[in-house]
Amino acid sequence: METLVTLCTLLSLLFVVRADLVAQFQDVPECMKYFYKSQVPKYQASIPGTARLCQRFANRYHFATLYDTNHRIAVYSAYIFQPSNGGGRERRWFVEPQLVKPSWQAEMKDGYWLGKDHPGVYLGEKQALNEDYTHSGFDRGHLNPNGHHAVPGRNATFTLTNVVPQNPKLNQNAWRIHESQLTELFRDKCSKAYVLVGAVPSAANWIVKNNVKRVNIPDYLWNAFCCLDNNDKPVRGGAAAARNTEDNWVEKLSLDELGEFLQQFSNQPVGELFHNNCMAD
Ligand SMILES: *[C@@H]1O[C@H](CO)[C@@H](O)[C@H](O)[C@H]1NC(C)=O
Repeated sequence: METLVTLCTLLSLLFVVRADLVAQFQDVPECMKYFYKSQVPKYQASIPGTARLCQRFANRYHFATLYDTNHRIAVYSAYIFQPSNGGGRERRWFVEPQLVKPSWQAEMKDGYWLGKDHPGVYLGEKQALNEDYTHSGFDRGHLNPNGHHAVPGRNATFTLTNVVPQNPKLNQNAWRIHESQLTELFRDKCSKAYVLVGAVPSAANWIVKNNVKRVNIPDYLWNAFCCLDNNDKPVRGGAAAARNTEDNWVEKLSLDELGEFLQQFSNQPVGELFHNNCMAD
């Protein structure tokens, strides 16, 4: 009996500890709902040093991120569009306690306070920190945009695992406009929209702090969406990509074109980003 109790405690402990940082997105059913028909893309699924994050804030999940702990930027974030309900902009920047120590809490936490709670522990080994971006000349560019969510999901997008060093002009201009065009499309034409937003890392471009390559400056940002009608039938898929430069230009693509584009940077087949390429079965 005692062994059984111990075993159960151990198992539940394991479950709690692994609720957020998971070996496979499939391990957390609530996390699978951010992928259309629960199909996780094969794209970059096997590159070394990736962490699968079920982004948890205010006691629930909000989206999923495939995070590259070597480049310290996400491969992509996956989410379901929600109309915004206003509210202010989150002022904190969150870090992922479980990327510091797997036994730490499953919820994202204000990096400032996590540091205060654990003096002497370096938080940035496997993730970017707020200080990395300070005076870097780059914006903390959201992948999953805060404007595509209602609070508290909106707050949750302010985790540093969901942002990349983005050219300020692109972030504040062409990419922002692109995001609001998608807002209108999703709000007016889709009953539900699944979205992936990712970054293609550069070979040698980094935010460097104290001679340490801290955060990779991606060459490109991309996104892909699958829009469903109220019978859950896919009605429209689309994509876009932008060079992360002063060019300030977002190229609209089809899902197939995005797949070909991403293939250039991948050793493995990119595969479908959405089940059946977001077409009706
Ligand atoms: C979300 O952000 C808004 C705006 O900063 C803030 O007022 C609110 O308290 C935050 N919600 C939570 C649950 O922290």
